[in-house]
Amino acid sequence: MSKRLLVIGSGGREHALVWKLAQSPQVEKIFVAPGNPGTASIDKAVNVDIKVMDFGKLEHLAYKEAIDLTIVGPDDPLGDGIVDSFQAKGLKIWGPSQSAARLESSKAFSKDFMTRHNIPTAEYQVFTELEAAMNYCNEKGYPIVIKASGLALGKGVAIAQCQQEAHDFLEKIFVERIFGDAGNEVVIEEFLEGPEISIHAFADGSNSLILQSAQDHKPVGEGNTGPNTGGMGTITPLPWLTEAELQVIDETIVKPTIAGMKAEGNPFVGLLYPGLIMSKKGPRVLEYNVRFGDPETQIYMRTLETDLVDIIEASLEGRLDQIQLAWSGKSAACIILASGGYPGSYAKGKEITGIDEANQEIDIVVFQAGTKLDDGNLVTNGGRVLGVTAIAADLETAISKAYKAAAKINFEGKYQRNDIGFNLTSLTNCSISA
Ligand code: AMP
Ligand code: GLY
Repeated sequence: MSKRLLVIGSGGREHALVWKLAQSPQVEKIFVAPGNPGTASIDKAVNVDIKVMDFGKLEHLAYKEAIDLTIVGPDDPLGDGIVDSFQAKGLKIWGPSQSAARLESSKAFSKDFMTRHNIPTAEYQVFTELEAAMNYCNEKGYPIVIKASGLALGKGVAIAQCQQEAHDFLEKIFVERIFGDAGNEVVIEEFLEGPEISIHAFADGSNSLILQSAQDHKPVGEGNTGPNTGGMGTITPLPWLTEAELQVIDETIVKPTIAGMKAEGNPFVGLLYPGLIMSKKGPRVLEYNVRFGDPETQIYMRTLETDLVDIIEASLEGRLDQIQLAWSGKSAACIILASGGYPGSYAKGKEITGIDEANQEIDIVVFQAGTKLDDGNLVTNGGRVLGVTAIAADLETAISKAYKAAAKINFEGKYQRNDIGFNLTSLTNCSISA
């Protein structure tokens, strides 16, 4: 009953995970590598200055400190096989194997996997030359989505509204070769219209447990305009998505994914996070992630009542069917405070004030992401700096409490979206009949 944990990562997601894990009576101490000033401020937690990709040093730490369980935050170490590496040395770690993590790390793998298992996603085809690609666009009609298959994170993606736009973009890829070899292959995909939502599910290789619904706000600008970020704010649960609709998503997307991975000899153990578009034809998978979303985790940890250690151990031992998730019944909202200029270039080292005042407000917890201590002062050190989270009986109240607390915090260049969760009722024109 005195477990020693290691949490890998340094963002708002990891601060929220450590905050929640520290509440477990089973947990004695949490090492965080590398962590941030927020994780260091938690009584049971201590930061260790090791980078997330330095598997050797992380494994050495796990031995030396007799760690009972390691939990991985970000996708990079998962894609690089940190779980396989720890397990080969007899160390207990929670997350998908490198092979299962291909659901996120390889677009080609995940699209083909969805096709093999009839999991609803945007219809697509892969092309290696201009003329065939153009013919396909014209045959399918516009708008249509064109993606240079070697590039990630929204770069190299164009939504072509007409033949001319499709031709211009394909010419840039195939003739001008603006993406180099990453444009050798082009994925052309059906344009999906509708609200984007975040689904999360714990999985043990065979069983899965879906979390309540959530929504991120990825573009930097209000009204979902401008370039994509890591996420500017989240809400949970979505008032417009019913329990029955969430069940449809579970039955048509989450469970078939876990069953398909198992059938292919790649059992998925960890946290599966499919990003969906709620199209008029039903929910469609836009992409899979194989780890907790950020800032989704910041609101999930505020509303999940079940001990997270119990869930993770059940996931590792293949007995998630014996666990039921308990939620507080409250709604939660998170407003991200970012450095002005993000996701482009931005200044660092700006002094942050007002976190204590914000935290003193009832039902508020401020999670830290891009922060560091400079001579004892907390300063900005990244694009997404803080996540201000609030809980309340209803979502409107949670959102307004979060904005009120966010107003108490200041740093030079502070930027936030002022419309997080704003459009609570406009998303109902999607159909879920899959
Ligand atoms: P990706 O690089 O595939 O993650 O795409 C980046 C962003 O483009 C996504 O977050 C979506 O907002 C948008 N997008 C990608 N694919 C589609 C699609 N088939 N239909 C509509 N929007 C899309
Ligand atoms: N919420 C966006 C992400 O974690 O990828």
